[in-house]
Amino acid sequence: MSAVKTLGQFIIERQSDFPYAKGELSRLLRDLAIAAKIVNREINKAGLADILGEAGSTNVQGECQKKLDIYANEQFIAALKNGGECCIVVSEENDEYIYIDSAVSKDAKYIVAIDPLDGSSNIDVNVAVGTVFSIYRRKSEQGKATMEDILQKGTEQVAAGYIIYGSSTMLVYTTGKGVNGFTLDPSIGEFCLSHPDLTIPQDGTIYSINEGNYTHFPDGVKKYIKYCQVEDRNTNRPYTSRYTGSMVADLHRNLIKGGIFIYPCTASSMYGKLRLIYECNPMAFIIEQAGGLASNGYTRILDLDVKELHQRSPVFIGSENMVKVAEEFMASFSPQVLKRTFEGVVSIQ
Ligand code: AHG
Ligand code: MN
Ligand code: MN
Repeated sequence: MSAVKTLGQFIIERQSDFPYAKGELSRLLRDLAIAAKIVNREINKAGLADILGEAGSTNVQGECQKKLDIYANEQFIAALKNGGECCIVVSEENDEYIYIDSAVSKDAKYIVAIDPLDGSSNIDVNVAVGTVFSIYRRKSEQGKATMEDILQKGTEQVAAGYIIYGSSTMLVYTTGKGVNGFTLDPSIGEFCLSHPDLTIPQDGTIYSINEGNYTHFPDGVKKYIKYCQVEDRNTNRPYTSRYTGSMVADLHRNLIKGGIFIYPCTASSMYGKLRLIYECNPMAFIIEQAGGLASNGYTRILDLDVKELHQRSPVFIGSENMVKVAEEFMASFSPQVLKRTFEGVVSIQ
């Protein structure tokens, strides 16, 4: 039987892959993994503890915060503060970015953007939820980091990952040299390498989208959904529809099995729902590193300009050939969405 490799051992082995290898990024990943274990512990016993349900407050996007949203946010921020390698945290749960003002962190090199708890609507019903993180190196050399340090394109990410708290808990991450997955072994409390060099199948048979919003989708998406449902032996259609409402869970499945995840713009939400900095960009980095594609329907997600902390973007992400076909549908049937996006007109074809 081969020896187990823990996340800690793996990170140390791969440290020389990093462009500025002094161990800081390795320590940052370690800090995130520690917080993930603590959050995992609470999620596992969520039905027992008085931690389910609403916290009675709303976040910057007007969404109801669940107790676990707040708990996870606190744990990740605390781990990053204590670790000393991160100078700024951008979180879904905080309106403004958090400047980490401590003696150890003030000249820290890294910025972390995080969705501490993804799939909040699934917390109370014991369906998989996740955490998504993205790591940038600050632009300025020292002193107080600013917005300019934060608003970098997705192509500038030095690492990104997610944790899925599912039937087992996994941490999947990339530093731009492929994607590796680690499963938490609760008996030893360690993430162990279980999915080395993850690749996403080039073709898939799963499409993941909230079809309840069909009426509000642009024509390109409506026509693509119908295409997925048509019988065709050559392309293994009709495809299977799978959507949990936790992007991390839906994308994790599609990464392993092959598929496409779509959260498009809708009639009421021109830029879709998902946030660029801490949802779309990290997932796009991971999926591209696994051999897939991530688009806003027209353009590569990682090339999009980042102007605001909580900026949203439509997303079409997954198996290469499926995303390409979806983009063709958008170009043919919804070219106006792009045009109007540039013109700032809130209306879709
Ligand atoms: P979050 O829980 O961090 O707010 O994210 C929820 C996101 C994403 O995980 C999921 O795919 C999507 O919202 C579900 O939205 P709908 O309920 O509109 O389908
Ligand atoms: Mn989310
Ligand atoms: Mn969230």
